[in-house]
Amino acid sequence: MPEPITPVTFPPAFLWGAATSAYQIEGAVREGGRTPSIWDTFSHTPGKTAGGETGDIAVDHYHRYRDDVALMAELGLSTYRFSISWSRVQPTGRGPAVQVGLDFYRRLVDELLAAGIKPAVTLYHWDLPQELEDAGGWPERDTAFRFAEYAQIVGEALGDRVENWITLNEPWCSAFLGYASGVHAPGRTEPVASLKAAHHLNLAHGLGTSALRAAMPARNSVAISLNSSVVRPLSPGDPADLAAVQKIDDLANGVFHGPILRGAYPETLLAATSSLTDWSYVHEGDLRAIHQPLDALGLNYYTPTLVSAADASVLGPRSDGHGASDHSPWPGADDVAFHLTPGDRTEMGWSIDPTGLHELIMRYTAEAPGLPLYITENGAAYDDKPDSDGRVHDPERIAYLHGHLAAVRRAIADGADVRGYYLWSLLDNFEWAYGYEKRFGAVYVDYATLTRTPKSSALWYSQAARTGTLAPTETN
Ligand code: FCB
Repeated sequence: MPEPITPVTFPPAFLWGAATSAYQIEGAVREGGRTPSIWDTFSHTPGKTAGGETGDIAVDHYHRYRDDVALMAELGLSTYRFSISWSRVQPTGRGPAVQVGLDFYRRLVDELLAAGIKPAVTLYHWDLPQELEDAGGWPERDTAFRFAEYAQIVGEALGDRVENWITLNEPWCSAFLGYASGVHAPGRTEPVASLKAAHHLNLAHGLGTSALRAAMPARNSVAISLNSSVVRPLSPGDPADLAAVQKIDDLANGVFHGPILRGAYPETLLAATSSLTDWSYVHEGDLRAIHQPLDALGLNYYTPTLVSAADASVLGPRSDGHGASDHSPWPGADDVAFHLTPGDRTEMGWSIDPTGLHELIMRYTAEAPGLPLYITENGAAYDDKPDSDGRVHDPERIAYLHGHLAAVRRAIADGADVRGYYLWSLLDNFEWAYGYEKRFGAVYVDYATLTRTPKSSALWYSQAARTGTLAPTETN
């Protein structure tokens, strides 16, 4: 007799969403006064993205946003997380806003609200205006002040109709993939600059949070989305492996949540990086500025990280999951080795382990008591293709989503205050250094015609969103 299946049911107020980001979907990179961001420059530099692909057209969401909102409404989504292209609303990263740029987002938001879908705005999802990079980029202190000005502009323009705000998406990627391993824009490989970038991103978050609060009604919520890693030791009983975990945990997590949630960088991080930097770019008052009360915390989760102590001399090229590089994205951690985590893998090569999501949620429930949590990204890439009948069947993605949503539900049962979940991603899109090779969408995009076709996972997720209950999958 097969085991009876207990349905997994969520609290009625739980929000069911999907997420995207501007450069990955909008296209229209030269319209309405938009100027290049670091991702335009990087993707147009030979050798930086798979097949030299760029976001020039992406999935043309800039022109098709109405249809995309209609699709979300059809799927019964309760919320949608998207990001604003900074160079669309403030092209040089300084000075007055371009109304055409802001109008695009006003129309998008109005369309969402009319469809009963709650917008959640991310101000920065990695696309710094190129002029600010030319002036030094995130390693330059002034960039944090420029971000605060931009936050004020967008807060004033949309604060009356958008309640949920996220300052930065995954500052770890901006700092360490952008400035240390160089697999992301702007492609620099300067370990010390990457640590400065991390501090200035923290400062940008703090100053941006204050700017948003000053510009918007008090009822609005301000959060940040961290890709906090679940770091596990290869040999749990080995003190050297546990020391490696501490090092990577500090560089992945503590470097952000230390100042943001507690107002201090971890002592262990400062010690581990002391041969590289004295952190003198942390000025008097910065930690106070960064340590703002938050209304919520966004967690992005895909896969855990497995590490051990290592002899630096035996390490080969590093992969951090977003692309291979000879340069490490972990400054000061040359004595740490990274291992393939066990389990089935997605098309990214990332192992599938929903226990990591449960662990992550419980960690932040303990570290930030009382702070509501949202899973602001979670999902999987598979090599989806339409069948002869034109339908796209993706049972692996359904199994991935089921497993991870069930982990969220377990965490809620264990006392975590998780208010919502955003599937990454609504649509297949430009997956950074991988170009269009990796499909994360619940909705399939034919890149030749830009036609959208909901995959079977979109229909499964839609049922979950409408009923608050996960339908069993073929694998459970
Ligand atoms: C996250 C990014 C998102 C997408 C997913 C797969 O790190 O925030 O834009 O690339 O990974």
